[in-house]
Amino acid sequence: MTFIPTSVLVTGGAGFIGSNFIHSFIANNSDCTVTNLDCLTYAGNLKNLTALEGNPHYRFVKGDIGDAALVAGILADQRIDAVVHFAAESHVDRSITGPEIFVRTNVLGTQVLLEESRKHWQSGAVAAFRFLQISTDEVYGSLGDTGYFTEETPLAANSPYSASKAGADLLVRAYHETFGMPTLNTRCSNNYGPYHFPEKLIPLLIHNIINRKPLPVYGDGLNIRDWLHVRDHAVAIETVLKTAAPGAVYNIGGNNEWKNIDIVNLVCDLLDSRLRRADGENRGLITFVKDRLGHDRRYAIDASRLKADLGWGPSYTFEQGIAETIDWYLANQEWVAGVTSGAYREYYKNQYDGGAA
Ligand code: NAD
Ligand code: DAU
Repeated sequence: MTFIPTSVLVTGGAGFIGSNFIHSFIANNSDCTVTNLDCLTYAGNLKNLTALEGNPHYRFVKGDIGDAALVAGILADQRIDAVVHFAAESHVDRSITGPEIFVRTNVLGTQVLLEESRKHWQSGAVAAFRFLQISTDEVYGSLGDTGYFTEETPLAANSPYSASKAGADLLVRAYHETFGMPTLNTRCSNNYGPYHFPEKLIPLLIHNIINRKPLPVYGDGLNIRDWLHVRDHAVAIETVLKTAAPGAVYNIGGNNEWKNIDIVNLVCDLLDSRLRRADGENRGLITFVKDRLGHDRRYAIDASRLKADLGWGPSYTFEQGIAETIDWYLANQEWVAGVTSGAYREYYKNQYDGGAA
Protein backbone atom coordinates (compact mmCIF):
# COMPACT_ATOMS: atom_id res chain seq x y z
CA MET A 1 0.00 0.00 0.00
CA THR A 2 1.47 3.34 -1.02
CA PHE A 3 1.09 6.37 1.22
CA ILE A 4 1.02 9.66 -0.71
CA PRO A 5 1.74 12.59 1.62
CA THR A 6 0.25 15.98 0.78
CA SER A 7 1.69 18.19 3.52
CA VAL A 8 4.97 17.22 5.19
CA LEU A 9 6.53 18.69 8.32
CA VAL A 10 10.30 18.36 8.12
CA THR A 11 12.13 19.13 11.36
CA GLY A 12 15.79 20.17 11.24
CA GLY A 13 15.52 20.93 7.53
CA ALA A 14 18.21 23.63 7.67
CA GLY A 15 20.85 21.06 8.61
CA PHE A 16 22.94 18.82 6.40
CA ILE A 17 20.66 15.85 5.69
CA GLY A 18 17.38 17.70 6.20
CA SER A 19 18.21 20.34 3.57
CA ASN A 20 19.34 17.71 1.07
CA PHE A 21 16.12 15.79 1.76
CA ILE A 22 13.94 18.87 1.20
CA HIS A 23 15.60 19.61 -2.17
CA SER A 24 15.19 16.03 -3.29
CA PHE A 25 11.64 15.61 -1.96
CA ILE A 26 10.29 18.84 -3.45
CA ALA A 27 11.83 17.99 -6.81
CA ASN A 28 10.11 14.57 -6.75
CA ASN A 29 6.72 15.61 -5.30
CA SER A 30 5.27 18.63 -7.04
CA ASP A 31 1.81 18.16 -5.42
CA CYS A 32 3.12 18.19 -1.86
CA THR A 33 4.00 21.10 0.44
CA VAL A 34 6.90 21.06 2.88
CA THR A 35 7.03 23.02 6.13
CA ASN A 36 10.54 23.19 7.56
CA LEU A 37 10.64 23.69 11.35
CA ASP A 38 14.14 24.50 12.51
CA CYS A 39 15.37 26.56 15.45
CA LEU A 40 18.68 27.30 13.68
CA THR A 41 21.29 26.09 16.11
CA TYR A 42 24.93 26.51 15.04
CA ALA A 43 24.25 23.62 12.60
CA GLY A 44 21.21 25.18 10.93
CA ASN A 45 22.00 27.18 7.80
CA LEU A 46 19.31 28.72 5.59
CA LYS A 47 21.90 29.23 2.88
CA ASN A 48 21.39 25.50 2.22
CA LEU A 49 17.89 26.34 1.01
CA THR A 50 18.21 29.62 -0.90
CA ALA A 51 17.12 27.89 -4.13
CA LEU A 52 13.69 27.34 -2.57
CA GLU A 53 12.99 30.93 -1.54
CA GLY A 54 9.67 31.97 -3.06
CA ASN A 55 8.71 28.38 -3.91
CA PRO A 56 4.96 28.08 -3.10
CA HIS A 57 5.46 24.45 -2.03
CA TYR A 58 7.97 25.37 0.69
CA ARG A 59 7.74 27.37 3.90
CA PHE A 60 10.18 27.91 6.75
CA VAL A 61 9.22 28.31 10.42
CA LYS A 62 11.89 29.25 12.91
CA GLY A 63 11.14 27.38 16.11
CA ASP A 64 11.93 24.59 18.51
CA ILE A 65 10.56 21.06 18.28
CA GLY A 66 10.16 21.27 22.06
CA ASP A 67 7.60 24.08 21.73
CA ALA A 68 4.36 22.09 21.98
CA ALA A 69 2.02 24.98 21.11
CA LEU A 70 4.04 25.88 18.02
CA VAL A 71 4.18 22.26 16.84
CA ALA A 72 0.42 21.78 17.45
CA GLY A 73 -0.33 24.94 15.49
CA ILE A 74 1.74 23.84 12.48
CA LEU A 75 0.23 20.35 12.47
CA ALA A 76 -3.31 21.77 12.49
CA ASP A 77 -2.86 24.83 10.27
CA GLN A 78 -0.92 23.00 7.56
CA ARG A 79 -3.02 19.80 7.83
CA ILE A 80 0.24 17.89 8.14
CA ASP A 81 -0.06 14.22 7.20
CA ALA A 82 3.63 13.25 7.55
CA VAL A 83 6.37 14.29 9.99
CA VAL A 84 9.95 13.57 8.91
CA HIS A 85 12.01 14.19 12.00
CA PHE A 86 15.67 15.12 11.42
CA ALA A 87 16.09 17.82 14.10
CA ALA A 88 18.79 16.80 16.54
CA GLU A 89 22.12 17.61 18.06
CA SER A 90 24.22 15.41 15.78
CA HIS A 91 27.93 15.66 16.64
CA VAL A 92 29.42 12.95 18.84
CA ASP A 93 32.36 15.09 20.05
CA ARG A 94 30.02 17.82 21.27
CA SER A 95 27.94 15.23 23.16
CA ILE A 96 31.06 14.24 25.12
CA THR A 97 31.77 17.80 26.26
CA GLY A 98 28.12 18.87 26.69
CA PRO A 99 25.56 16.05 26.83
CA GLU A 100 22.64 18.00 28.35
CA ILE A 101 21.42 19.65 25.14
CA PHE A 102 21.50 16.23 23.45
CA VAL A 103 18.98 14.87 25.94
CA ARG A 104 16.88 18.03 25.75
CA THR A 105 16.66 18.10 21.95
CA ASN A 106 16.97 14.47 20.93
CA VAL A 107 14.92 12.85 23.71
CA LEU A 108 12.60 15.50 25.15
CA GLY A 109 12.15 17.32 21.83
CA THR A 110 11.21 14.06 20.11
CA GLN A 111 8.73 13.28 22.89
CA VAL A 112 6.99 16.65 22.39
CA LEU A 113 6.83 16.08 18.64
CA LEU A 114 5.44 12.58 19.16
CA GLU A 115 2.83 13.71 21.65
CA GLU A 116 1.55 16.58 19.49
CA SER A 117 1.58 14.24 16.48
CA ARG A 118 -0.45 11.68 18.41
CA LYS A 119 -3.11 14.25 19.29
CA HIS A 120 -3.24 15.54 15.73
CA TRP A 121 -3.43 12.01 14.24
CA GLN A 122 -6.11 10.90 16.74
CA SER A 123 -8.19 14.02 16.07
CA GLY A 124 -8.89 12.62 12.62
CA ALA A 125 -7.85 15.90 10.98
CA VAL A 126 -6.10 13.95 8.21
CA ALA A 127 -7.10 10.72 6.48
CA ALA A 128 -3.70 9.05 6.87
CA PHE A 129 -0.59 9.92 8.86
CA ARG A 130 3.06 8.90 9.25
CA PHE A 131 5.78 9.87 11.75
CA LEU A 132 9.26 9.02 10.45
CA GLN A 133 12.12 9.11 12.95
CA ILE A 134 15.53 9.64 11.30
CA SER A 135 18.03 7.68 13.36
CA THR A 136 21.53 6.34 13.16
CA ASP A 137 23.51 3.09 13.11
CA GLU A 138 25.24 4.40 16.24
CA VAL A 139 22.30 3.24 18.40
CA TYR A 140 23.59 -0.34 17.92
CA GLY A 141 26.97 0.38 19.53
CA SER A 142 30.23 -0.93 18.10
CA LEU A 143 31.21 -4.01 16.06
CA GLY A 144 34.32 -6.17 16.10
CA ASP A 145 36.20 -7.10 12.93
CA THR A 146 33.26 -9.03 11.45
CA GLY A 147 29.47 -8.91 11.33
CA TYR A 148 26.83 -6.31 10.55
CA PHE A 149 24.11 -4.40 12.38
CA THR A 150 20.68 -5.73 11.44
CA GLU A 151 17.35 -4.31 12.59
CA GLU A 152 17.32 -7.06 15.25
CA THR A 153 20.67 -6.03 16.76
CA PRO A 154 20.00 -4.89 20.35
CA LEU A 155 20.44 -1.17 21.02
CA ALA A 156 23.76 -0.65 22.84
CA ALA A 157 24.57 3.04 22.39
CA ASN A 158 27.97 4.13 23.70
CA SER A 159 28.16 7.93 23.40
CA PRO A 160 25.80 10.51 24.92
CA TYR A 161 24.76 11.35 21.33
CA SER A 162 23.89 7.78 20.41
CA ALA A 163 22.23 7.18 23.79
CA SER A 164 19.97 10.17 23.18
CA LYS A 165 19.10 8.88 19.69
CA ALA A 166 18.39 5.40 21.12
CA GLY A 167 16.10 7.01 23.71
CA ALA A 168 14.21 8.76 20.91
CA ASP A 169 13.95 5.52 18.91
CA LEU A 170 12.44 3.75 21.91
CA LEU A 171 9.90 6.53 22.39
CA VAL A 172 8.93 6.18 18.73
CA ARG A 173 8.52 2.45 19.22
CA ALA A 174 6.46 3.10 22.36
CA TYR A 175 4.05 5.40 20.51
CA HIS A 176 3.49 2.66 17.95
CA GLU A 177 3.10 -0.12 20.51
CA THR A 178 1.01 1.85 22.99
CA PHE A 179 -1.20 4.02 20.79
CA GLY A 180 -0.94 2.23 17.46
CA MET A 181 0.47 5.43 15.98
CA PRO A 182 1.77 4.87 12.43
CA THR A 183 5.46 5.47 13.09
CA LEU A 184 8.51 4.55 11.01
CA ASN A 185 12.16 4.46 12.01
CA THR A 186 15.27 4.50 9.81
CA ARG A 187 18.84 3.98 11.01
CA CYS A 188 21.49 5.16 8.61
CA SER A 189 25.27 5.04 8.44
CA ASN A 190 27.64 8.02 7.93
CA ASN A 191 26.46 10.45 5.26
CA TYR A 192 28.66 12.65 3.08
CA GLY A 193 27.88 15.22 0.40
CA PRO A 194 26.99 18.91 -0.06
CA TYR A 195 26.08 21.22 2.88
CA HIS A 196 27.92 19.07 5.45
CA PHE A 197 28.98 21.16 8.45
CA PRO A 198 32.80 21.28 8.50
CA GLU A 199 33.13 19.89 12.03
CA LYS A 200 32.48 16.39 10.60
CA LEU A 201 35.36 14.33 9.19
CA ILE A 202 35.00 14.66 5.40
CA PRO A 203 34.17 18.39 5.09
CA LEU A 204 36.74 19.14 7.82
CA LEU A 205 39.42 17.35 5.79
CA ILE A 206 38.53 19.21 2.60
CA HIS A 207 38.48 22.58 4.35
CA ASN A 208 41.75 21.99 6.19
CA ILE A 209 43.57 20.67 3.13
CA ILE A 210 42.54 23.70 1.07
CA ASN A 211 43.85 25.94 3.86
CA ARG A 212 46.97 23.82 4.54
CA LYS A 213 45.88 23.15 8.12
CA PRO A 214 46.60 19.95 10.12
CA LEU A 215 44.29 16.98 9.52
CA PRO A 216 43.45 15.54 12.95
CA VAL A 217 43.14 11.75 12.91
CA TYR A 218 41.79 10.33 16.17
CA GLY A 219 43.72 7.45 17.79
CA ASP A 220 45.29 4.99 15.35
CA GLY A 221 43.00 5.99 12.47
CA LEU A 222 41.79 2.40 12.09
CA ASN A 223 38.18 2.96 13.18
CA ILE A 224 35.76 1.96 10.44
CA ARG A 225 32.63 3.72 9.18
CA ASP A 226 30.18 2.88 6.38
CA TRP A 227 29.67 5.87 4.08
CA LEU A 228 26.55 6.75 2.07
CA HIS A 229 25.94 9.73 -0.21
CA VAL A 230 23.36 12.02 1.38
CA ARG A 231 21.22 12.03 -1.79
CA ASP A 232 20.94 8.24 -1.62
CA HIS A 233 19.84 8.64 2.00
CA ALA A 234 17.20 11.19 0.92
CA VAL A 235 15.75 8.75 -1.63
CA ALA A 236 15.76 5.93 0.93
CA ILE A 237 13.82 8.09 3.39
CA GLU A 238 11.23 9.01 0.75
CA THR A 239 10.89 5.30 -0.14
CA VAL A 240 10.33 4.30 3.47
CA LEU A 241 7.87 7.15 4.06
CA LYS A 242 5.70 6.17 1.10
CA THR A 243 5.93 2.39 1.07
CA ALA A 244 6.89 0.96 4.48
CA ALA A 245 4.31 -0.62 6.77
CA PRO A 246 3.55 1.40 9.92
CA GLY A 247 5.76 0.34 12.82
CA ALA A 248 8.62 -0.69 10.52
CA VAL A 249 12.32 -0.15 11.26
CA TYR A 250 14.81 -0.06 8.37
CA ASN A 251 18.58 0.12 8.30
CA ILE A 252 20.06 2.29 5.53
CA GLY A 253 23.68 1.94 4.45
CA GLY A 254 26.11 2.07 1.58
CA ASN A 255 27.84 -1.33 1.97
CA ASN A 256 30.92 0.87 1.80
CA GLU A 257 33.26 0.42 4.77
CA TRP A 258 36.39 2.54 5.08
CA LYS A 259 39.08 2.86 7.73
CA ASN A 260 39.35 6.52 8.69
CA ILE A 261 43.00 6.74 7.65
CA ASP A 262 42.18 5.37 4.20
CA ILE A 263 39.51 8.05 3.71
CA VAL A 264 41.97 10.70 4.88
CA ASN A 265 44.61 9.49 2.41
CA LEU A 266 42.05 9.33 -0.41
CA VAL A 267 40.80 12.88 0.15
CA CYS A 268 44.42 14.11 0.40
CA ASP A 269 45.31 12.48 -2.91
CA LEU A 270 42.21 13.67 -4.78
CA LEU A 271 42.96 17.20 -3.65
CA ASP A 272 46.67 17.01 -4.60
CA SER A 273 45.72 16.98 -8.27
CA ARG A 274 42.80 19.40 -7.99
CA LEU A 275 44.90 21.96 -6.09
CA ARG A 276 47.91 21.35 -8.38
CA ARG A 277 50.07 20.24 -5.47
CA ALA A 278 52.81 17.63 -5.61
CA ASP A 279 51.80 13.96 -5.27
CA GLY A 280 51.66 13.14 -1.54
CA GLU A 281 51.94 16.77 -0.45
CA ASN A 282 48.59 16.85 1.36
CA ARG A 283 49.33 13.64 3.30
CA GLY A 284 52.02 15.68 5.04
CA LEU A 285 49.23 17.52 6.86
CA ILE A 286 48.02 14.33 8.64
CA THR A 287 48.38 14.63 12.42
CA PHE A 288 47.48 11.77 14.76
CA VAL A 289 45.78 13.18 17.86
CA LYS A 290 44.36 11.87 21.14
CA ASP A 291 41.49 9.45 20.56
CA ARG A 292 37.80 10.36 21.02
CA LEU A 293 36.57 9.06 24.39
CA GLY A 294 34.62 5.83 23.98
CA HIS A 295 35.37 5.89 20.24
CA ASP A 296 33.26 3.17 18.56
CA ARG A 297 35.60 0.92 16.57
CA ARG A 298 33.50 -0.25 13.66
CA TYR A 299 30.05 0.36 12.18
CA ALA A 300 28.72 -1.80 9.34
CA ILE A 301 25.11 -1.85 8.24
CA ASP A 302 23.12 -4.69 6.76
CA ALA A 303 20.51 -2.85 4.65
CA SER A 304 19.25 -5.96 2.88
CA ARG A 305 15.77 -5.72 4.42
CA LEU A 306 15.23 -2.33 2.78
CA LYS A 307 16.36 -3.77 -0.57
CA ALA A 308 14.22 -6.91 -0.24
CA ASP A 309 11.04 -5.20 1.01
CA LEU A 310 11.08 -1.83 -0.74
CA GLY A 311 13.65 -2.19 -3.53
CA TRP A 312 16.00 0.59 -2.39
CA GLY A 313 19.74 0.50 -3.04
CA PRO A 314 22.38 3.24 -3.31
CA SER A 315 22.90 4.80 -6.73
CA TYR A 316 26.27 6.51 -6.10
CA THR A 317 29.54 4.62 -6.17
CA PHE A 318 31.90 5.98 -3.53
CA GLU A 319 34.45 6.95 -6.19
CA GLN A 320 31.83 9.08 -7.95
CA GLY A 321 30.29 10.46 -4.74
CA ILE A 322 33.52 11.52 -3.05
CA ALA A 323 34.87 13.13 -6.25
CA GLU A 324 31.61 15.07 -6.72
CA THR A 325 31.62 16.09 -3.06
CA ILE A 326 35.17 17.44 -3.22
CA ASP A 327 34.29 19.34 -6.40
CA TRP A 328 31.16 20.74 -4.71
CA TYR A 329 33.22 22.14 -1.83
CA LEU A 330 35.79 23.60 -4.21
CA ALA A 331 33.01 25.26 -6.23
CA ASN A 332 31.20 26.50 -3.10
CA GLN A 333 34.01 28.08 -1.12
CA GLU A 334 31.67 30.98 -0.37
CA TRP A 335 29.30 28.60 1.45
CA VAL A 336 32.20 27.16 3.46
CA ALA A 337 33.59 30.61 4.24
CA GLY A 338 30.12 31.71 5.38
CA VAL A 339 30.00 28.82 7.82
CA THR A 340 33.51 29.12 9.17
CA SER A 341 33.21 32.91 9.62
CA GLY A 342 29.74 32.62 11.19
CA ALA A 343 28.25 34.88 8.48
CA TYR A 344 25.54 32.30 7.77
CA ARG A 345 23.94 33.24 11.08
CA GLU A 346 23.58 36.87 9.95
CA TYR A 347 21.75 35.68 6.85
CA TYR A 348 18.74 34.55 8.88
CA LYS A 349 18.54 37.86 10.71
CA ASN A 350 18.57 39.82 7.48
CA GLN A 351 16.09 37.53 5.73
CA TYR A 352 13.60 36.92 8.51
CA ASP A 353 14.22 39.25 11.48
CA GLY A 354 14.64 42.48 9.57
CA GLY A 355 18.25 42.65 10.74
CA ALA A 356 17.39 42.45 14.46
CA ALA A 357 20.00 40.75 16.63
P1 NAD B 1 22.82 18.65 11.51
O1 NAD B 1 23.47 18.87 12.82
O2 NAD B 1 23.51 19.05 10.26
O3 NAD B 1 21.39 19.38 11.49
C1 NAD B 1 20.51 19.35 12.59
C2 NAD B 1 19.44 20.42 12.34
O4 NAD B 1 18.49 20.34 13.43
C3 NAD B 1 19.99 21.86 12.32
O5 NAD B 1 19.45 22.57 11.25
C4 NAD B 1 19.51 22.43 13.66
O6 NAD B 1 19.31 23.83 13.62
C5 NAD B 1 18.21 21.66 13.87
N1 NAD B 1 17.80 21.60 15.28
C6 NAD B 1 18.57 21.23 16.34
N2 NAD B 1 17.85 21.31 17.47
C7 NAD B 1 16.60 21.71 17.12
C8 NAD B 1 15.41 21.97 17.85
N3 NAD B 1 15.35 21.83 19.19
N4 NAD B 1 14.31 22.38 17.18
C9 NAD B 1 14.36 22.56 15.83
N5 NAD B 1 15.46 22.33 15.08
C10 NAD B 1 16.56 21.91 15.73
O7 NAD B 1 22.44 17.11 11.48
P2 NAD B 1 22.47 16.08 10.26
O8 NAD B 1 23.82 15.54 10.12
O9 NAD B 1 21.77 16.69 9.12
O10 NAD B 1 21.56 14.91 10.88
C11 NAD B 1 20.15 14.97 10.75
C12 NAD B 1 19.54 13.76 11.45
O11 NAD B 1 20.05 12.57 10.85
C13 NAD B 1 19.88 13.67 12.93
O12 NAD B 1 18.73 13.22 13.60
C14 NAD B 1 20.99 12.65 13.00
O13 NAD B 1 20.96 11.96 14.23
C15 NAD B 1 20.62 11.73 11.85
N6 NAD B 1 21.74 11.03 11.20
C16 NAD B 1 22.83 11.71 10.75
C17 NAD B 1 23.84 11.05 10.06
C18 NAD B 1 25.04 11.76 9.51
O14 NAD B 1 25.96 11.12 8.98
N7 NAD B 1 25.12 13.08 9.56
C19 NAD B 1 23.73 9.66 9.85
C20 NAD B 1 22.60 9.00 10.34
C21 NAD B 1 21.61 9.70 10.99
O1 DAU C 1 27.13 6.71 11.85
C1 DAU C 1 26.21 7.76 11.73
C2 DAU C 1 26.74 8.97 12.46
O2 DAU C 1 27.80 9.50 11.66
C3 DAU C 1 25.68 10.02 12.71
O3 DAU C 1 24.69 9.49 13.56
C4 DAU C 1 26.30 11.28 13.34
O4 DAU C 1 25.31 12.30 13.46
C5 DAU C 1 27.41 11.77 12.42
O5 DAU C 1 28.06 12.89 13.00
C6 DAU C 1 28.42 10.66 12.17
O6 DAU C 1 29.11 10.33 13.39
P1 DAU C 1 30.70 10.01 13.41
O7 DAU C 1 31.20 10.26 14.78
O8 DAU C 1 30.97 8.70 12.79
O9 DAU C 1 31.19 11.16 12.37
P2 DAU C 1 32.46 12.13 12.41
O10 DAU C 1 32.52 12.79 11.06
O11 DAU C 1 32.47 12.99 13.61
O12 DAU C 1 33.67 11.11 12.53
C7 DAU C 1 33.90 10.09 11.56
C8 DAU C 1 35.08 9.26 12.03
O13 DAU C 1 36.27 10.06 11.91
C9 DAU C 1 35.01 8.84 13.49
O14 DAU C 1 35.59 7.57 13.64
C10 DAU C 1 35.85 9.89 14.21
C11 DAU C 1 36.90 10.25 13.18
N1 DAU C 1 37.38 11.65 13.21
C12 DAU C 1 36.45 12.65 13.21
C13 DAU C 1 36.85 13.97 13.20
C14 DAU C 1 35.83 15.10 13.24
C15 DAU C 1 38.75 11.92 13.17
O15 DAU C 1 39.59 11.00 13.15
N2 DAU C 1 39.13 13.23 13.16
C16 DAU C 1 38.24 14.28 13.17
O16 DAU C 1 38.67 15.46 13.19
